[in-house]
Amino acid sequence: MNHILVTGGAGFIGSHTCLVLLKNGYFISVIDSFINSSKKSLENVLKILKKNHIFHEKIKIYEGDIRDTELLNKIFKYSRENKLEISSVIHFAGLKSVSESIQNPIKYWENNVAGTLNLTNVMEENNCKTIIFSSSATIYGLTNKTKFKETDPISPVNPYGTTKFVIEKFLETIYSSNLENWRIANLRYFNPIGAHKSALIGESPIGLPNNIFPLINQVAGGILKELKIYGKDWPTYDGTGIRDYIHVMDVAEGHLAALKFLSNSKPKIITINLGTGKGTSVLDLVKTFEKVNKIKIPLNFVDRREGDVARLVADNSLAKSLLNWQPKMKLSEMCLDGWRWQLNNMNGYND
Ligand code: NAD
Ligand code: UFG
Repeated sequence: MNHILVTGGAGFIGSHTCLVLLKNGYFISVIDSFINSSKKSLENVLKILKKNHIFHEKIKIYEGDIRDTELLNKIFKYSRENKLEISSVIHFAGLKSVSESIQNPIKYWENNVAGTLNLTNVMEENNCKTIIFSSSATIYGLTNKTKFKETDPISPVNPYGTTKFVIEKFLETIYSSNLENWRIANLRYFNPIGAHKSALIGESPIGLPNNIFPLINQVAGGILKELKIYGKDWPTYDGTGIRDYIHVMDVAEGHLAALKFLSNSKPKIITINLGTGKGTSVLDLVKTFEKVNKIKIPLNFVDRREGDVARLVADNSLAKSLLNWQPKMKLSEMCLDGWRWQLNNMNGYND
């Protein structure tokens, strides 16, 4: 039995990945502090799997923090004693608000960096040396390249991005220290949006969202009056920022592909972009949302937001060739699925 420890598995990307893992026969243990998620997300993952009792036996959920050494050791020990040794870790747990990280960098270094140090330390002690880490395209920084390759220069522009970059570097040093053992994948996500088609799991931000898609959803749902567009003078075809939006289910499938790749390969470290390779402007995202969902989104152009870049689009050729992974979902499906989730859960998991 392949047993995966998923840190932050109750979150937006984590819950969709847990669904994919369970569907593909994995046994999973989730550790989550629920600092930015709800217990309902994993309950709903099981609902999607039709209350099949086989799946209930394949998931174990631990409420706790990845900085809690004792708890992590307990999870590994319990798994070993039950002949379900953890073979790999998928590491989503982390804080992700750029603005909060600017106001409170210590919290981000403490949670993201110290948390990862503790996790890898416990992994090493328990002889588990395969990890997939949630990195971010935000680390490419303030250059306006057409598409970003994994080998392009890194220059994070905020503390959140710096923690991701530092963790990537830290994982490289672990790999180099023990070339015969570690299998590591840094996955740099671009802009995951949308939700599972069931509308049972999706993005449920706590407080006012920062990211564009949950904001569009809240405007569409009448929670917010208008969408503020940050800048109309960017050097792009319509003056608004361009991003590489990717369906969260495609991101989840990317983890399965990375897991399979690492399990079948010699010890190595890989760094891979997960994006579609297609750039979409803010205005085009809004237009697509309006068209497929037949809802008008009132707009208000305001000044640029600090720390934004004009364009951030993936060169995803490495993911395609190495992982044999292809993003399958179009922008229209992201907008349909994302709005269906919102419509069925106006207050996220708090409904
Ligand atoms: P999320 O906030 O929905 O999920 C993160 C989960 O980790 C939450 O369930 C939270 O409660 C948990 N968590 C946080 N700190 C923890 C800790 N110390 N111990 C235990 N649990 C903890 O975020 P997400 O969008 O699902 O993102 C998952 C990962 O991907 C994060 O590391 C994030 O930085 C990274 N990422 C996200 C995006 C994005 O746009 N969503 C883009 C690039 C990278
Ligand atoms: N935008 C608006 N109005 C809003 C919010 C966003 O116009 O109210 C614009 C931004 O200026 C940008 C685009 O919409 O052009 C996307 O912004 P998001 O905040 O949704 O996403 P970012 O690309 O800024 O950052 C996100 C995550 C990061 C992650 C990064 C990876 O917030 O954590 O994607 O590409 F690292």
